[in-house]
Amino acid sequence: MLSGQGTRCRKDSMRIRHARVEDAEAISRVHVDSWKTTYRGMVPDHVLDGLNYERNTLRWREMLSNIGEMKCFLVAETSDGQVVGFATGGPNRELDTGYNGELYAIYISNENQNRGVGKRLVLNIALWLIHHRYTSMLVWVLEKNPAKYFYEALGGCYVSRKKIEIGSALIDEISFGWPNLAEFVNAHVRKA
Ligand SMILES: CC(C)(COP(=O)(O)OP(=O)(O)OC[C@H]1O[C@@H](n2cnc3c(N)ncnc32)[C@H](O)[C@@H]1OP(=O)(O)O)[C@@H](O)C(=O)NCCC(=O)NCCS
Repeated sequence: MLSGQGTRCRKDSMRIRHARVEDAEAISRVHVDSWKTTYRGMVPDHVLDGLNYERNTLRWREMLSNIGEMKCFLVAETSDGQVVGFATGGPNRELDTGYNGELYAIYISNENQNRGVGKRLVLNIALWLIHHRYTSMLVWVLEKNPAKYFYEALGGCYVSRKKIEIGSALIDEISFGWPNLAEFVNAHVRKA
């Protein structure tokens, strides 16, 4: 699905491609805006109010400069070159979950949600994981985040829960898993 310069979405000419260091600023904007709109009321205000594009850009630039072969970082780009979403994945950061791959993060700009972009990004992360011999995938989501219904819509099943600390608040997080990535990809690519 993802090859060469990336693939275009049949429905709206959105292209999925590997991220480059030069995308850091655009990624930072999607990330900061998305945190501020999605997590208000779930994450302490001082954490959200303290987010800024410049600091966040430096963080993403650093990460993209050191991404290496072990992780996948994809962006969704409009036909005029605007980055409107991103997703990252790679080996599961926790050893004892029973899932060897992980979707680390996925964010789509507000205006571009509900257009199938998130699904295409998840499918492409899943394809990358399969290509790198991972067989399953897990994702963590704040329990109050409606994104959990997105993962359910993609066939993810509830796996476990934990508390995480963000800005000195303890917040419930739940995980969804796809135990058989090949089945997941086949089912959705056939439908796409
Ligand atoms: C969650 C998110 C990534 C989903 O991406 P998206 O592009 O809006 O979702 P898509 O349009 O690809 O939706 C795919 C499917 O999920 C369903 N879906 C998406 N969001 C949903 C929601 N909140 N509730 C119920 N179903 C939802 C869609 O209806 C669609 O179903 P279909 O395939 O049967 O038509 C996006 O909304 C987002 O970035 N949210 C803010 C940031 C965030 O919460 N990220 C996740 C952090 S863990």
